[in-house]
Amino acid sequence: MKSSPKKTEKPVKKEKAILLQSPKGMHDILPEDQPRWELLRAAMRAVAHFYNFSRIDTPILESADVFERSVGEFTDIVEKEMFFIKTRGGDRLVLRPENTAGVVRAYFQHNLSRLGHPLKLYYEGPMFRYEQPQAGRFRQFHQVGFEILGAEDDSLYDAQIVIATVRFLEEVKIKNVMVSLNSIGCKACRPSYKKKLQDYYKGEQLKICKDCKRRLTLNPLRLLDCKQEQCAPIKAKAPVTLDYLCAACRHHFKSVLEYLDDVGLVYTLDHRLVRGLDYYNRTVFEVFMERSPLSLGGGGRYDYLGEILGARKTPLPAVGSALGLERIHDILKERDLLQGKSLRPDRLNSVFLIQIGEPAKRKSLALIEEFRKARIHIIESLGRESLKSQLRVADKEQVRLALILGQREVFEGSIIIRDMQHGTQETVPLVKAVEEVKRRLR
Ligand code: HAM
Repeated sequence: MKSSPKKTEKPVKKEKAILLQSPKGMHDILPEDQPRWELLRAAMRAVAHFYNFSRIDTPILESADVFERSVGEFTDIVEKEMFFIKTRGGDRLVLRPENTAGVVRAYFQHNLSRLGHPLKLYYEGPMFRYEQPQAGRFRQFHQVGFEILGAEDDSLYDAQIVIATVRFLEEVKIKNVMVSLNSIGCKACRPSYKKKLQDYYKGEQLKICKDCKRRLTLNPLRLLDCKQEQCAPIKAKAPVTLDYLCAACRHHFKSVLEYLDDVGLVYTLDHRLVRGLDYYNRTVFEVFMERSPLSLGGGGRYDYLGEILGARKTPLPAVGSALGLERIHDILKERDLLQGKSLRPDRLNSVFLIQIGEPAKRKSLALIEEFRKARIHIIESLGRESLKSQLRVADKEQVRLALILGQREVFEGSIIIRDMQHGTQETVPLVKAVEEVKRRLR
């Protein structure tokens, strides 16, 4: 066969290897941080269980309507921060920016009033906001949240939400947080306050920022949420909501404060606190760490959301809160690093199996199964050969005990149990390994 003449080969252009990255503002949660995340989830479960909240999970995607109708057309979240998805079928969905609206949607969809009132629900999961990423502000972040639906008009539930929010932080040993509280009134008294605020800002129009000029007509309450320096002195002198509350709202707020006083919960009143979502009325609050402008959590009463999202415009008095887990996680991590502690509470009841030589390796899998049956967590590094390298892994894993099985032990039918903290060790019969480990872990 005749071979075809060889074409002159073009030199292959080497493409620059690009290391793929997670999307901007969205982060992987790596194995080394997982124990702390698990601690946060366990704390939420414990606090929710104590105050009798049942778990609810809603989809990460919701119809855009759910948020456009509830969070507020002229809020930052709806105007700029929602991730939209248009499905092939033409549905307009968004990655949920928060979960209160989703929970209320689920309440009506599944007629959850059948479970009785007040209905206490909690959740945890990722939320998405198209924000400019910066320290403590991400595009994907996680929240845990409490909602009390059908919470009548009772100030006791407002107080209980604030208490549960603070208790969650205490559960993960974050103490002395600052709680800021305000009341933004109701349908009856808020219009007169808004008018007063607008009148005041109209007199200052030339001095306020571009965004505030828009807020002045579209969403005056949000004027108080402006972070621009040029607006700060104007904001400082603005009329305060508390001076314009109707008698019922004043009484409600006073009673919330009394309940908090009764349990010794320390708070400060913040006349400028209005929150970034439009569905609130009466009590609003945020929780901070000293010297940090970023809130760890926040919430409030939202008595009108049910009428907005329910098909029958049924009133559904409600109150709730949510906490941002990334911000809380970072506080825990910094504290652990300061204390030189890497947190492995999950390793306190774990043992590490070290095997040296072929006969020991042969025995390992069966031994692991024996420990599994006894529900003792056993970690191994069967691919490693030397005692030194396996001990190094055992050390890194922060287990309490290591089991050492060498040729001699296999021959004698024994195993060495080493206390990793104290460096002491003892040889015990192999058949008693599980029993002996159990005793020591106890
Ligand atoms: P929120 O104040 O928008 O309220 O969010 C609650 C918490 O989520 C914040 O205090 C903060 O810790 C965290 N968070 C918010 N945005 C970000 C972000 N971009 N990056 C990192 N963390 C963030 C709500 O979402 C309401 N649904 C709370 C609520 C429940 N109100 C009544 N019920």
